[in-house]
Amino acid sequence: MSLRLGVNIDHVATVRNARGGIHPDPVEAALLAVKAGADGITAHLREDRRHIRDEDIKRLRAVLRAPLNMEMAATEEMVDIACDLKPHACCIVPERREEVTTEGGLDVAGQNALLVPVIRRLSDRGIRVSLFVDPDPKQIAASAAVGAAVVELHTGAYAHGEDGELERLRTAAAQAAGLGLEVHAGHGLSFGNVAPVAAISQISELNIGHFLIGQAIFDGLPSVVQEMKRLMGAARGAAL
Ligand code: PXP
Repeated sequence: MSLRLGVNIDHVATVRNARGGIHPDPVEAALLAVKAGADGITAHLREDRRHIRDEDIKRLRAVLRAPLNMEMAATEEMVDIACDLKPHACCIVPERREEVTTEGGLDVAGQNALLVPVIRRLSDRGIRVSLFVDPDPKQIAASAAVGAAVVELHTGAYAHGEDGELERLRTAAAQAAGLGLEVHAGHGLSFGNVAPVAAISQISELNIGHFLIGQAIFDGLPSVVQEMKRLMGAARGAAL
């Protein structure tokens, strides 16, 4: 089975929003990521719009040729936006305003009544619905029961180096695939920890954001410094 990379561009918007302007543009970053080989783009439209904004997600939908995976909370507002936008997929995540990032998986088992109509509305619009869950057998069984097509396994605890987490991910992936769910994974993945997760055969997609955007600073800084020095030198008619 092939393994796709979904690139999460939220933190390009974080940097843009720090200055309130239009640079760097997350849509331009998404196009660049796809050109470089990303198989899809993920963006999280949070209730507080702290990074991705409504306009970003609309532009992404309009210009991207690759599949767009919209992360969102299971609220009426977000379901309305998604049904209007019709992205390839929606990944439902738990959301708390005070959190820095998505801290844990959804409690699918405990939120059955909330999730069933949300999943139905999105699925009826032809959107693939993914549920972001901890690698917990109870949550995976509940995800299949509520009618999700996909589970995305939360790799945060694994990324933090917690004991036994890789094994939990392996077991969860096998269980989910056995129940007929497509299996994705993500959160906290980096060059240093991706390999053992990428080796889990049932996983067909990894969604990675913060590390890639952060690492792009180190990989990109030399060339932008050189270009700035070139422009400065050209303005003075000499190499600096
Ligand atoms: N998958 C989901 C469902 C997420 O909420 C996030 C974080 O927005 C990611 C993947 C990517 O995590 P990271 O930015 O740590 O790579």
